[in-house]
Amino acid sequence: MTHTAIVAEQLHKHYKEKRALDGFDLTVPQGMVYGLLGPNGAGKTTAVRILATLVRLDAGRALVAGYDVVEQPRQVRRSIGFTGQFAALDEVLTGRQNLRMFGRLFHLTPKQAARRADELLERFDLVEAAGKGVREYSGGMRRRLDLASSMILSPQILFLDEPTTGLDPRGRNEVWESVRSLVAGGTTVLLTTQYLDEADQLAERIAVIDHGRVIADDTPDALKTLIGGDRIEVVMKDAADVPVAVKVVARVATAEPEVDDTSRRVHAPVADRVAALTDVARTLQDDGIGVEDIGLRRPTLDEVFLRLTGHRVEEQPDEAGGAGEISSPDTSRGATR
Ligand SMILES: Nc1ncnc2c1ncn2[C@@H]1O[C@H](COP(=O)(O)OP(=O)(O)O)[C@@H](O)[C@H]1O
Ligand SMILES: [Mg+2]
Repeated sequence: MTHTAIVAEQLHKHYKEKRALDGFDLTVPQGMVYGLLGPNGAGKTTAVRILATLVRLDAGRALVAGYDVVEQPRQVRRSIGFTGQFAALDEVLTGRQNLRMFGRLFHLTPKQAARRADELLERFDLVEAAGKGVREYSGGMRRRLDLASSMILSPQILFLDEPTTGLDPRGRNEVWESVRSLVAGGTTVLLTTQYLDEADQLAERIAVIDHGRVIADDTPDALKTLIGGDRIEVVMKDAADVPVAVKVVARVATAEPEVDDTSRRVHAPVADRVAALTDVARTLQDDGIGVEDIGLRRPTLDEVFLRLTGHRVEEQPDEAGGAGEISSPDTSRGATR
Protein backbone atom coordinates (compact mmCIF):
# COMPACT_ATOMS: atom_id res chain seq x y z
CA MET A 1 0.00 0.00 0.00
CA THR A 2 2.04 2.92 -1.22
CA HIS A 3 -0.78 4.93 -2.74
CA THR A 4 -2.13 8.17 -1.35
CA ALA A 5 -5.47 7.49 0.38
CA ILE A 6 -7.42 10.17 -1.48
CA VAL A 7 -6.51 12.34 -4.44
CA ALA A 8 -9.07 14.74 -5.90
CA GLU A 9 -8.13 16.97 -8.82
CA GLN A 10 -10.28 19.80 -10.07
CA LEU A 11 -13.61 18.19 -9.24
CA HIS A 12 -16.64 19.96 -10.67
CA LYS A 13 -20.26 19.19 -9.93
CA HIS A 14 -23.34 21.27 -10.58
CA TYR A 15 -27.01 20.83 -9.83
CA LYS A 16 -28.88 22.79 -12.49
CA GLU A 17 -27.38 26.28 -12.30
CA LYS A 18 -25.94 25.68 -8.79
CA ARG A 19 -22.21 24.91 -8.66
CA ALA A 20 -21.78 22.54 -5.73
CA LEU A 21 -18.10 21.83 -6.51
CA ASP A 22 -16.06 24.28 -8.51
CA GLY A 23 -12.47 23.06 -8.92
CA PHE A 24 -12.13 21.02 -5.72
CA ASP A 25 -8.60 19.72 -5.01
CA LEU A 26 -7.56 17.52 -2.08
CA THR A 27 -4.75 15.11 -1.21
CA VAL A 28 -5.11 12.92 1.86
CA PRO A 29 -2.18 10.74 2.98
CA GLN A 30 -2.82 7.35 4.55
CA GLY A 31 -3.55 6.93 8.24
CA MET A 32 -4.52 10.52 8.91
CA VAL A 33 -7.67 12.31 10.01
CA TYR A 34 -8.24 15.02 7.45
CA GLY A 35 -10.78 17.68 8.31
CA LEU A 36 -12.94 19.25 5.62
CA LEU A 37 -14.19 22.42 7.27
CA GLY A 38 -16.87 24.68 5.85
CA PRO A 39 -20.28 26.23 6.40
CA ASN A 40 -23.61 24.82 5.30
CA GLY A 41 -23.80 24.64 1.51
CA ALA A 42 -20.01 24.82 0.96
CA GLY A 43 -19.96 21.49 -0.90
CA LYS A 44 -18.70 19.09 1.81
CA THR A 45 -21.36 16.42 1.34
CA THR A 46 -21.10 16.61 -2.44
CA ALA A 47 -17.33 16.10 -2.20
CA VAL A 48 -17.50 13.05 0.08
CA ARG A 49 -20.36 11.53 -1.92
CA ILE A 50 -18.35 11.81 -5.13
CA LEU A 51 -15.36 10.22 -3.42
CA ALA A 52 -17.62 7.46 -2.07
CA THR A 53 -19.00 6.85 -5.63
CA LEU A 54 -22.52 7.85 -4.55
CA VAL A 55 -22.65 10.91 -6.81
CA ARG A 56 -21.26 11.32 -10.33
CA LEU A 57 -18.75 14.06 -11.01
CA ASP A 58 -19.12 16.37 -14.02
CA ALA A 59 -15.40 16.89 -14.51
CA GLY A 60 -12.10 16.21 -12.81
CA ARG A 61 -10.47 13.08 -11.47
CA ALA A 62 -10.54 11.31 -8.11
CA LEU A 63 -8.59 8.34 -6.79
CA VAL A 64 -9.59 6.63 -3.56
CA ALA A 65 -7.34 3.89 -2.17
CA GLY A 66 -5.56 4.10 -5.53
CA TYR A 67 -8.73 3.41 -7.54
CA ASP A 68 -10.47 5.77 -9.91
CA VAL A 69 -13.97 6.60 -8.64
CA VAL A 70 -15.40 6.64 -12.16
CA GLU A 71 -13.49 3.74 -13.73
CA GLN A 72 -13.23 1.44 -10.69
CA PRO A 73 -16.21 2.14 -8.41
CA ARG A 74 -16.40 -1.44 -7.11
CA GLN A 75 -12.82 -1.43 -5.91
CA VAL A 76 -13.38 1.96 -4.32
CA ARG A 77 -16.48 0.72 -2.50
CA ARG A 78 -14.60 -2.27 -1.15
CA SER A 79 -12.03 0.06 0.39
CA ILE A 80 -14.30 2.56 2.12
CA GLY A 81 -16.88 3.07 4.84
CA PHE A 82 -19.30 5.97 4.94
CA THR A 83 -21.47 7.45 7.62
CA GLY A 84 -23.82 10.25 6.74
CA GLN A 85 -25.30 12.97 8.85
CA PHE A 86 -28.22 10.69 9.62
CA ALA A 87 -27.79 7.10 10.62
CA ALA A 88 -29.66 4.29 8.87
CA LEU A 89 -30.19 2.32 12.04
CA ASP A 90 -33.22 0.19 12.74
CA GLU A 91 -34.96 1.69 15.79
CA VAL A 92 -36.74 -1.51 16.76
CA LEU A 93 -33.61 -3.64 16.91
CA THR A 94 -30.96 -3.61 19.62
CA GLY A 95 -27.46 -2.30 18.95
CA ARG A 96 -26.14 -5.83 18.69
CA GLN A 97 -28.92 -6.88 16.30
CA ASN A 98 -28.27 -3.85 14.11
CA LEU A 99 -24.60 -4.71 13.78
CA ARG A 100 -25.33 -8.36 13.04
CA MET A 101 -27.85 -7.31 10.42
CA PHE A 102 -25.30 -5.08 8.71
CA GLY A 103 -22.78 -7.91 8.84
CA ARG A 104 -25.25 -10.20 7.07
CA LEU A 105 -25.96 -7.45 4.55
CA PHE A 106 -22.26 -7.37 3.80
CA HIS A 107 -22.26 -11.14 3.20
CA LEU A 108 -20.70 -12.31 6.43
CA THR A 109 -21.90 -15.69 7.71
CA PRO A 110 -24.14 -15.53 10.82
CA LYS A 111 -21.22 -16.66 12.94
CA GLN A 112 -18.82 -14.10 11.45
CA ALA A 113 -21.44 -11.36 11.77
CA ALA A 114 -21.98 -12.18 15.46
CA ARG A 115 -18.25 -12.13 16.16
CA ARG A 116 -17.69 -8.89 14.30
CA ALA A 117 -20.65 -7.30 16.13
CA ASP A 118 -19.13 -8.21 19.50
CA GLU A 119 -15.70 -6.84 18.52
CA LEU A 120 -17.22 -3.57 17.39
CA LEU A 121 -19.46 -3.19 20.46
CA GLU A 122 -16.34 -3.56 22.55
CA ARG A 123 -14.31 -1.14 20.46
CA PHE A 124 -16.97 1.59 20.47
CA ASP A 125 -17.76 1.16 24.16
CA LEU A 126 -21.29 -0.12 23.57
CA VAL A 127 -21.13 -3.45 25.39
CA GLU A 128 -23.49 -2.35 28.15
CA ALA A 129 -25.98 -0.87 25.71
CA ALA A 130 -25.76 -3.76 23.25
CA GLY A 131 -29.01 -5.40 24.35
CA LYS A 132 -31.06 -2.21 24.41
CA GLY A 133 -33.29 -1.05 21.58
CA VAL A 134 -31.71 1.72 19.54
CA ARG A 135 -34.71 3.96 20.24
CA GLU A 136 -33.43 4.18 23.83
CA TYR A 137 -29.96 5.31 22.73
CA SER A 138 -28.65 8.83 23.29
CA GLY A 139 -27.43 10.86 20.31
CA GLY A 140 -23.80 10.01 21.07
CA MET A 141 -24.55 6.28 21.36
CA ARG A 142 -26.36 6.32 18.02
CA ARG A 143 -23.48 7.96 16.24
CA ARG A 144 -21.07 5.46 17.76
CA LEU A 145 -23.26 2.59 16.62
CA ASP A 146 -23.38 4.19 13.20
CA LEU A 147 -19.57 4.40 13.20
CA ALA A 148 -19.38 0.76 14.26
CA SER A 149 -21.68 -0.31 11.42
CA SER A 150 -19.51 1.49 8.88
CA MET A 151 -16.47 -0.41 10.21
CA ILE A 152 -17.92 -3.91 9.74
CA LEU A 153 -15.66 -4.68 6.81
CA SER A 154 -12.62 -2.87 8.30
CA PRO A 155 -12.37 -0.31 5.51
CA GLN A 156 -9.01 1.40 4.93
CA ILE A 157 -10.73 4.73 4.44
CA LEU A 158 -13.72 6.13 6.30
CA PHE A 159 -15.85 9.12 5.31
CA LEU A 160 -17.57 10.85 8.21
CA ASP A 161 -19.99 13.53 7.13
CA GLU A 162 -20.65 15.86 10.09
CA PRO A 163 -20.53 13.08 12.67
CA THR A 164 -21.32 15.34 15.63
CA THR A 165 -23.78 17.87 14.21
CA GLY A 166 -26.76 18.07 16.56
CA LEU A 167 -25.06 16.29 19.47
CA ASP A 168 -24.71 17.74 22.95
CA PRO A 169 -21.15 18.25 24.30
CA ARG A 170 -21.10 14.84 25.95
CA GLY A 171 -22.23 13.04 22.79
CA ARG A 172 -19.66 14.99 20.83
CA ASN A 173 -16.89 13.90 23.18
CA GLU A 174 -17.96 10.27 22.90
CA VAL A 175 -17.81 10.42 19.11
CA TRP A 176 -14.43 12.14 19.22
CA GLU A 177 -13.07 9.33 21.37
CA SER A 178 -14.34 6.79 18.85
CA VAL A 179 -12.75 8.61 15.95
CA ARG A 180 -9.45 8.72 17.82
CA SER A 181 -9.54 4.99 18.40
CA LEU A 182 -10.22 4.42 14.70
CA VAL A 183 -7.15 6.33 13.70
CA ALA A 184 -5.07 4.49 16.27
CA GLY A 185 -6.13 1.39 14.35
CA GLY A 186 -4.68 2.83 11.12
CA THR A 187 -7.87 3.91 9.35
CA THR A 188 -7.68 7.03 7.18
CA VAL A 189 -10.58 9.37 7.98
CA LEU A 190 -12.00 12.22 5.93
CA LEU A 191 -14.22 14.11 8.34
CA THR A 192 -16.45 16.99 7.38
CA THR A 193 -17.45 19.53 9.98
CA GLN A 194 -18.79 23.03 10.49
CA TYR A 195 -16.79 23.39 13.72
CA LEU A 196 -13.22 24.66 13.76
CA ASP A 197 -12.97 23.29 17.27
CA GLU A 198 -13.81 19.78 16.11
CA ALA A 199 -11.36 19.86 13.21
CA ASP A 200 -8.74 21.18 15.62
CA GLN A 201 -9.40 18.36 18.11
CA LEU A 202 -9.34 15.51 15.61
CA ALA A 203 -7.60 16.42 12.39
CA GLU A 204 -3.92 16.46 11.55
CA ARG A 205 -4.66 18.68 8.59
CA ILE A 206 -7.62 20.85 7.69
CA ALA A 207 -8.89 21.89 4.28
CA VAL A 208 -11.26 24.85 4.42
CA ILE A 209 -13.95 24.72 1.75
CA ASP A 210 -16.03 27.63 0.47
CA HIS A 211 -18.26 27.71 -2.62
CA GLY A 212 -17.10 24.27 -3.76
CA ARG A 213 -13.40 24.97 -3.62
CA VAL A 214 -10.59 24.55 -1.08
CA ILE A 215 -9.47 28.00 0.04
CA ALA A 216 -6.91 26.93 2.67
CA ASP A 217 -5.17 23.66 3.46
CA ASP A 218 -2.87 23.45 6.45
CA THR A 219 -2.25 22.10 9.94
CA PRO A 220 -4.70 23.24 12.63
CA ASP A 221 -1.95 25.22 14.37
CA ALA A 222 -0.97 27.06 11.20
CA LEU A 223 -4.61 27.89 10.51
CA LYS A 224 -5.19 29.15 14.01
CA THR A 225 -2.05 31.27 13.85
CA LEU A 226 -3.22 32.66 10.53
CA ILE A 227 -6.47 33.80 12.05
CA GLY A 228 -4.82 35.13 15.19
CA GLY A 229 -5.13 32.23 17.63
CA ASP A 230 -7.36 32.30 20.70
CA ARG A 231 -9.50 35.28 21.57
CA ILE A 232 -10.22 37.20 24.72
CA GLU A 233 -13.82 38.24 25.21
CA VAL A 234 -15.17 40.75 27.72
CA VAL A 235 -18.83 41.56 28.32
CA MET A 236 -19.39 44.88 30.09
CA LYS A 237 -22.13 45.50 32.65
CA ASP A 238 -22.68 49.01 31.36
CA ALA A 239 -22.68 50.02 27.67
CA ALA A 240 -20.96 53.28 28.63
CA ASP A 241 -17.85 51.29 29.65
CA VAL A 242 -17.42 49.62 26.25
CA PRO A 243 -14.95 52.24 24.92
CA VAL A 244 -12.73 51.79 28.00
CA ALA A 245 -12.83 48.03 27.55
CA VAL A 246 -11.77 48.43 23.92
CA LYS A 247 -8.70 50.38 25.05
CA VAL A 248 -7.77 47.85 27.72
CA VAL A 249 -8.26 44.87 25.41
CA ALA A 250 -6.33 46.56 22.59
CA ARG A 251 -3.20 46.64 24.80
CA VAL A 252 -3.00 42.83 24.92
CA ALA A 253 -4.49 42.05 21.51
CA THR A 254 -2.70 41.13 18.30
CA ALA A 255 -5.37 42.81 16.17
CA GLU A 256 -7.96 45.57 16.45
CA PRO A 257 -10.67 44.57 18.97
CA GLU A 258 -14.14 43.98 17.59
CA VAL A 259 -17.20 45.36 19.35
CA ASP A 260 -20.74 44.08 19.50
CA ASP A 261 -22.74 46.97 20.92
CA THR A 262 -26.02 45.19 21.52
CA SER A 263 -24.38 42.57 23.74
CA ARG A 264 -21.73 45.03 25.10
CA ARG A 265 -19.11 42.52 24.01
CA VAL A 266 -15.49 43.33 23.14
CA HIS A 267 -13.26 40.63 21.68
CA ALA A 268 -9.87 40.31 20.05
CA PRO A 269 -7.17 37.71 19.27
CA VAL A 270 -4.34 37.37 21.79
CA ALA A 271 -0.92 35.75 21.66
CA ASP A 272 -0.46 34.84 25.32
CA ARG A 273 -3.80 33.60 26.64
CA VAL A 274 -3.19 33.61 30.35
CA ALA A 275 -1.21 36.83 30.52
CA ALA A 276 -3.84 38.62 28.46
CA LEU A 277 -6.72 37.40 30.60
CA THR A 278 -4.98 38.27 33.85
CA ASP A 279 -3.94 41.72 32.61
CA VAL A 280 -7.38 42.71 31.32
CA ALA A 281 -9.24 41.37 34.37
CA ARG A 282 -6.91 43.13 36.79
CA THR A 283 -6.90 46.47 34.94
CA LEU A 284 -10.69 46.63 34.71
CA GLN A 285 -11.05 45.65 38.35
CA ASP A 286 -8.47 48.21 39.52
CA ASP A 287 -10.37 50.90 37.64
CA GLY A 288 -13.61 49.77 39.26
CA ILE A 289 -15.27 48.99 35.94
CA GLY A 290 -18.14 46.52 36.01
CA VAL A 291 -17.51 43.34 34.04
CA GLU A 292 -20.36 40.92 33.47
CA ASP A 293 -18.26 38.17 31.93
CA ILE A 294 -14.69 37.63 30.82
CA GLY A 295 -13.01 34.66 29.22
CA LEU A 296 -10.92 33.08 26.52
CA ARG A 297 -12.31 31.20 23.59
CA ARG A 298 -11.23 29.56 20.36
CA PRO A 299 -11.77 31.31 17.06
CA THR A 300 -15.02 30.38 15.35
CA LEU A 301 -15.57 29.25 11.78
CA ASP A 302 -17.01 32.67 11.11
CA GLU A 303 -13.74 34.30 12.13
CA VAL A 304 -11.75 31.84 10.00
CA PHE A 305 -13.86 32.81 7.03
CA LEU A 306 -13.63 36.48 7.67
CA ARG A 307 -9.85 36.21 7.70
CA LEU A 308 -9.54 33.88 4.71
CA THR A 309 -12.18 35.32 2.42
CA GLY A 310 -12.86 38.81 3.71
CA HIS A 311 -16.51 37.89 4.15
CA ARG A 312 -18.51 36.21 6.86
CA VAL A 313 -20.02 32.77 6.50
CA GLU A 314 -22.91 32.93 4.07
CA GLU A 315 -25.49 30.42 5.16
CA GLN A 316 -26.86 28.86 2.02
CA PRO A 317 -30.27 27.25 1.71
CA ASP A 318 -29.58 23.60 2.35
CA GLU A 319 -31.60 21.93 -0.41
CA ALA A 320 -29.76 18.64 -0.27
CA GLY A 321 -29.47 18.25 3.49
CA GLY A 322 -31.94 17.82 6.32
CA ALA A 323 -35.21 16.16 5.53
CA GLY A 324 -34.02 14.93 2.14
CA GLU A 325 -31.36 12.80 3.74
CA ILE A 326 -33.63 11.46 6.44
CA SER A 327 -36.20 10.32 3.91
CA SER A 328 -33.58 8.54 1.80
CA PRO A 329 -31.31 6.66 4.20
CA ASP A 330 -29.98 4.61 1.27
CA THR A 331 -27.92 7.60 0.18
CA SER A 332 -26.60 8.33 3.65
CA ARG A 333 -24.89 5.01 4.02
CA GLY A 334 -21.88 3.52 2.25
CA ALA A 335 -22.07 2.17 -1.23
CA THR A 336 -21.49 -1.26 0.17
CA ARG A 337 -24.95 -2.44 -0.83
N1 LIG B 1 -29.19 17.01 -4.89
C1 LIG B 1 -29.06 18.35 -4.97
N2 LIG B 1 -29.87 19.08 -5.74
C2 LIG B 1 -29.74 20.41 -5.84
N3 LIG B 1 -28.79 21.12 -5.18
C3 LIG B 1 -27.95 20.46 -4.40
C4 LIG B 1 -28.02 19.03 -4.24
N4 LIG B 1 -27.04 18.64 -3.39
C5 LIG B 1 -26.38 19.77 -3.03
N5 LIG B 1 -26.92 20.85 -3.63
C6 LIG B 1 -26.44 22.25 -3.48
O1 LIG B 1 -25.04 22.25 -3.67
C7 LIG B 1 -24.40 23.08 -2.71
C8 LIG B 1 -23.45 22.24 -1.86
O2 LIG B 1 -24.21 21.38 -1.04
P1 LIG B 1 -23.58 20.31 -0.04
O3 LIG B 1 -22.52 19.54 -0.75
O4 LIG B 1 -24.69 19.56 0.56
O5 LIG B 1 -22.88 21.28 1.04
P2 LIG B 1 -22.51 21.00 2.58
O6 LIG B 1 -22.49 19.53 2.79
O7 LIG B 1 -21.16 21.65 2.74
O8 LIG B 1 -23.55 21.69 3.38
C9 LIG B 1 -25.51 23.72 -1.89
O9 LIG B 1 -25.81 24.97 -2.45
C10 LIG B 1 -26.67 22.77 -2.06
O10 LIG B 1 -27.89 23.44 -1.94
MG1 LIG C 1 -23.50 18.38 4.21
